[in-house]
Amino acid sequence: MSKKGFTRKEFLKTTGVLAGGAMMSAPSISRGSNLHRAKRRMAVVGTGVRGVSMYGRDLRNNYSETVDLVSLCDINPGRLRVAQEYVGGDLPVYTDLEEMLQAEKPETLIVTSRDDVHHDHIIMGMKNGCDIITEKPLTIDEVKAQEIIDAEKEYGRKVIVTFNYRYPPYRAKIKELVMDGWIGDVKNVDMNYHITHSHLMRYMQRWHGQRKYGGSLWVHKSTHHFDMINWWINSDPEEVFAKGALERFGKEGPYRGNNCRDCAFTDQCPYYWDITQDNYLNTLYAEQEHHDGYIRDNCVFREEIDIWEKHTALVKYANGAFLNYSLTADSEFEGYTLAINGSKGRIEVRAGGWPRKNGEDITFMPNKRYSDREEEVIHVAHGSGGHWGGDPIMNDQLFKDPDRPDPLKQQAGIRDGVMSILVGVAARKSIDSGETIRIGDLTDLVPHPTRES
Ligand SMILES: NC(=O)c1ccc[n+]([C@@H]2O[C@H](COP(=O)([O-])OP(=O)(O)OC[C@H]3O[C@@H](n4cnc5c(N)ncnc54)[C@H](O)[C@@H]3O)[C@@H](O)[C@H]2O)c1
Repeated sequence: MSKKGFTRKEFLKTTGVLAGGAMMSAPSISRGSNLHRAKRRMAVVGTGVRGVSMYGRDLRNNYSETVDLVSLCDINPGRLRVAQEYVGGDLPVYTDLEEMLQAEKPETLIVTSRDDVHHDHIIMGMKNGCDIITEKPLTIDEVKAQEIIDAEKEYGRKVIVTFNYRYPPYRAKIKELVMDGWIGDVKNVDMNYHITHSHLMRYMQRWHGQRKYGGSLWVHKSTHHFDMINWWINSDPEEVFAKGALERFGKEGPYRGNNCRDCAFTDQCPYYWDITQDNYLNTLYAEQEHHDGYIRDNCVFREEIDIWEKHTALVKYANGAFLNYSLTADSEFEGYTLAINGSKGRIEVRAGGWPRKNGEDITFMPNKRYSDREEEVIHVAHGSGGHWGGDPIMNDQLFKDPDRPDPLKQQAGIRDGVMSILVGVAARKSIDSGETIRIGDLTDLVPHPTRES
């Protein structure tokens, strides 16, 4: 019996499911068997779409031989109820994280909560003896990043940041080519990333539209891109100068309402979306918003939106490389163009876009004065599963075979998580101040020409 959290039975009472006759038996965990002891006990905090799918249901369906998912936590009791049903297994659920950790004693805490509270959950998990698997971004600002760095030193637990963008086979191939010296020393990188109108709309509708929750797309989204670049070129960012603009959404919009279900402008708004047509999202979010005020179909023209739609940054790396980066978050296509130029040649990729492809072409162009290689187009097929086949490869490493050799160093830790968010944090500060921001001034991590992790 818990005070702040609740057992299945208490929970069903509070949410009224018990009264409706849907009572299930208590959690059945075979704690005695050797097989069970060989499994790692894991728990999830944050039962939104990410938590209940990739780390909830998928974990139970695909990794039940190696992982015991023991419990779920969220501040929204209604969403927890839906999550419990969706994930299956009659798992105990809690609204208080510390209580869950002390009662269920997971060895690993999986953090899939809102970005601005990741640091609290990571630190609370470590304090209670857990290793951590956390979703990106590691956190949203430099103060919270420093707290995580300090906690890792204090508690000595392992923290993995799930940068699934490193795992699609063609991205691993790019890493391999750079590592194997195909382009020599990296001189500069161009990355122009695009997300579509509807993808941006989803961000604007939710907490992602406010810097205080998601750190802006500079952090929430670009953490993936900056991490990939840091990893590909194997160096730390050192200085950042950036510009950004919000031109279509938030207070720039012509009208506004409370949310799409309660709006006078549904006939004219190009972003009108009827969440009630999606039973899953309606049940998980709209029907639970009275508990915590989290509105999933919020107005994209609400005044409080303070993130940017278009972003451009110049980054200098500690190894001397330059990065020209842009994120156009109101675009006709989802994907990016990438070029990595080195002393011996250039790698070029145009990834994503339309029509959908079943793989990507990596074009290698040698600098004939310094390279004996020939021009080559290397086609790499996408794998099956989410994120161009990256998710299952990453998940196997996380949940099935944690000791698998990692020659490309795909698994990311705290330093990687911090270095990737700090580029976005510095970009925000640069836009606000007009100054160039030094990464080394933000936390006690010193940028290295060659990455440590
Ligand atoms: N790697 C990827 O490709 C990828 C894709 C999607 C989401 N994500 C990440 O996964 C995380 C969750 O994303 P989502 O789309 O499911 O978001 P969501 O808003 O649907 O879910 C977040 C959940 O956290 C809960 N929460 C908020 N504050 C809390 C607190 N203090 N304690 C406990 N729970 C709390 C909310 O109630 C909500 O249920 C985010 O960090 C996001 O960046 C990563």
